[in-house]
Amino acid sequence: MERYAHVTGWGMAVPERVLTNADLARTVDTTDEWIVSHTGIRERRIAGRETTASLSIEAARAALESADLSPRQLDLIIVATSTPEHVFPSTACLVQDALGAANAGAFDLSAACSGFVYAVSLAANGIRAGMHQNVLVIGAETLSRVTNWKDRGTCILFGDGAGAFVLQASATPGGVLASLLRADGSGGDALIIPAGGSHTPTTFDTVRANQHCIAMDGREVYRFATRVMASATREVVQDAGLTLDDIALIVPHQANRRIIDSAARALNLPEDRFVLNIDKYGNTSAASIPMALCEAVQAGRVRPNDHLVLIGFGGGLTWAATVIQWNVTRKPEVSAWRRIGRRAVYGLSKVRSAVRRGLRRVEGALPNEEAVNGNGQHPPEKSG
Ligand SMILES: CC(C)(COP(=O)(O)OP(=O)(O)OC[C@H]1O[C@@H](n2cnc3c(N)ncnc32)[C@H](O)[C@@H]1OP(=O)(O)O)[C@@H](O)C(=O)NCCC(=O)NCCS
Repeated sequence: MERYAHVTGWGMAVPERVLTNADLARTVDTTDEWIVSHTGIRERRIAGRETTASLSIEAARAALESADLSPRQLDLIIVATSTPEHVFPSTACLVQDALGAANAGAFDLSAACSGFVYAVSLAANGIRAGMHQNVLVIGAETLSRVTNWKDRGTCILFGDGAGAFVLQASATPGGVLASLLRADGSGGDALIIPAGGSHTPTTFDTVRANQHCIAMDGREVYRFATRVMASATREVVQDAGLTLDDIALIVPHQANRRIIDSAARALNLPEDRFVLNIDKYGNTSAASIPMALCEAVQAGRVRPNDHLVLIGFGGGLTWAATVIQWNVTRKPEVSAWRRIGRRAVYGLSKVRSAVRRGLRRVEGALPNEEAVNGNGQHPPEKSG
């Protein structure tokens, strides 16, 4: 049986706190007029108590609810992020635990602003190959935590949020039709967090020098982004056996409105063919595409059988595009009881997590017959 990977659920989450351009103009030398005319951004959301994991979990629960899927039915969770909760464990593992997705594997994917499209492509390939049935793909960021709030060239751009999509296997043709993943590491230093990794570990000096914050060559990134957005869109549409006329909506990474306008001109497409919400959220990196698509769906802009292009670009340098045939015709009516039941399961996830932790301790204290011999010693290595 031919297998296809369909989007069946979606959800998003943003922090409560809104930071407007006027707010920023009180702390750095900028104006609302400059920011709007150069980027299209009017405000962004900034995490307070929220974290990359908490936003991911909120978006994931909404996506599972709209797919009418229990977390136990998930077999893979991918979180695309450049601002993970920790270096390790992965944010995806924290999401897995909080959801109670007991049968899922989980990992983070690092491809900066292209991460969500990379993740959708991997998820769809796993589904089509027969390895996965139900995959949760999340793009989530708290870029405000790695923003240099004294640098007016970058601090005006970024914001926080998360978007989540459920992809499911189906025998119905459609879903993710084609994908394109690309990278050019020679441009890595154009968009970088210089310190905190293996190359430049954290020291007092790196912290004092703001080297744990985003450093960007804005013009270089701008030139790269305008170049790849149009070419990758053309290429992936062709790979899907379609033409640009078949595409109902393009959901681009929300980096700068001028980049999107320039791609629209290069592709000779009207602006209303592009989904834009950069004015409200700024650049939320891996979260921007799922958040934009989520809002487009909620606004009724996506109709059954529409062909969509998702196109991401950013640090790495990376870029990626995918074509999706939107086959969702109607959402199932989820009964109130089922909804209450699911909330109760989420409520119990902390208990479940604590029980598992306890069980692991007990297991660890018990002698393991395979690894330990009768004297309680580890068996000697076999020689010869
Ligand atoms: C960052 C970006 C908006 C800057 O716009 P730009 O038109 O390239 O601006 P420049 O950096 O050339 O600076 C032009 C002038 O505006 C000034 N400027 C920069 N940021 C400013 C701000 N927030 N407010 C007011 N003036 C500002 C500069 O200092 C410069 O002044 P000068 O001419 O006196 O030296 C633009 O380069 C960009 O969007 N790049 C892509 C960034 C991106 O998308 N990154 C993420 C990719 S995933």
